[in-house]
Amino acid sequence: MQNIVNNHIPVLLNKVIKYLQPNSNKVFIDGTFGGGGYTLELLKYGSKVLGIDKDIEAIKQGKNFFKKNKKLFLILGNFAYLKYYAHKYGLKFVDGIVLDLGVSSNQLNNHNRGFSFMYDGPLDMRMNINQKISAKTLINKLHADDLIKIIHTLGEEKYAKSIVLAITKARKIKNITRTSELSYIINQVFKKKKIKTRINPATRTFQALRIYVNNELYNIIRALIESQKILNINGRLIVNSFHSLEDRIVKYFLKANSNKKQKKSKYKINQNNILNNQYAFKILTPKVIKPDNIEIKRNPRSRSARLRVAEKISICSNKFNINTLNIPRLINYKNIWGYNSVSIF
Ligand SMILES: C[S@@+](CC[C@H](N)C(=O)[O-])C[C@H]1O[C@@H](n2cnc3c(N)ncnc32)[C@H](O)[C@@H]1O
Repeated sequence: MQNIVNNHIPVLLNKVIKYLQPNSNKVFIDGTFGGGGYTLELLKYGSKVLGIDKDIEAIKQGKNFFKKNKKLFLILGNFAYLKYYAHKYGLKFVDGIVLDLGVSSNQLNNHNRGFSFMYDGPLDMRMNINQKISAKTLINKLHADDLIKIIHTLGEEKYAKSIVLAITKARKIKNITRTSELSYIINQVFKKKKIKTRINPATRTFQALRIYVNNELYNIIRALIESQKILNINGRLIVNSFHSLEDRIVKYFLKANSNKKQKKSKYKINQNNILNNQYAFKILTPKVIKPDNIEIKRNPRSRSARLRVAEKISICSNKFNINTLNIPRLINYKNIWGYNSVSIF
């Protein structure tokens, strides 16, 4: 799908294929269809693919490119509900699930989507354009304390307080509506404080807003739990993360559901949920996989990728308690999100 409209270069594609071992008898879920890079390769081996994406543009482009390929079902939806979609399409179990987290280059490079501080555009950042809450809503409406928590926790931004102080000052005068305005405000904070950084000062704040707007951490956890239920024995789960919070969730989820011994850590997991010493997964990547220098040179956006793979080895469905993951907690905006039962923020 490497054509004019698709700028996304699939990351660690050869590793994904190596671990999924596609053939014409296998069925896979590509939970983050994006530019269709993984799906295209899986289809080449004759496998069936259920491709999911929250972004209507990605699905439209995919439908346009793959036309009516009988081996591909494309769904506009959230991978957090992948079990529901699989059942809807008559799939009780699948041979592999791949999640390539975050945003695609198609989304990042589209100025109108507001994901990037590199371009001026509306302060939006919604993957699902039908969702009500955008980055603009958060920046202009949230209480300063909550904004600080979001930027500090999800962006791991040391200077969250000063940034939010500048934001609240600016929004008193007029609403902040453009990516360039927000980026300017953050850059001024760093300049005044004479803080030198290797990355653009707006990077962490933009990352935090994007994660929060799209409820990304909650979706990952839910997808991991659902994956466990619909993978065949010997089926494989592959997750490609792009920042430490996501990778930490995947790492500790897999540890909690495999017999991998836990080292002492502040993210200690309660393994009381493991029944009869049976574990759902065997970890196939004891060491996380990263792209090599050749890939990073060819595709600089791949540099922070971290790939983890696990194989389903037993049908035991561990009663997994997400609280054991010790994910940083933010104020629970149940009312914004409309989720009543789960509070991971
Ligand atoms: C990094 S891109 C995937 C690229 C793809 N692997 C390829 O090679 O072209 C991530 C995609 O996942 C989608 N996405 C992120 N979170 C999602 C979720 N919870 N449910 C469905 N799609 C999601 C984004 O809209 C984006 O298109």
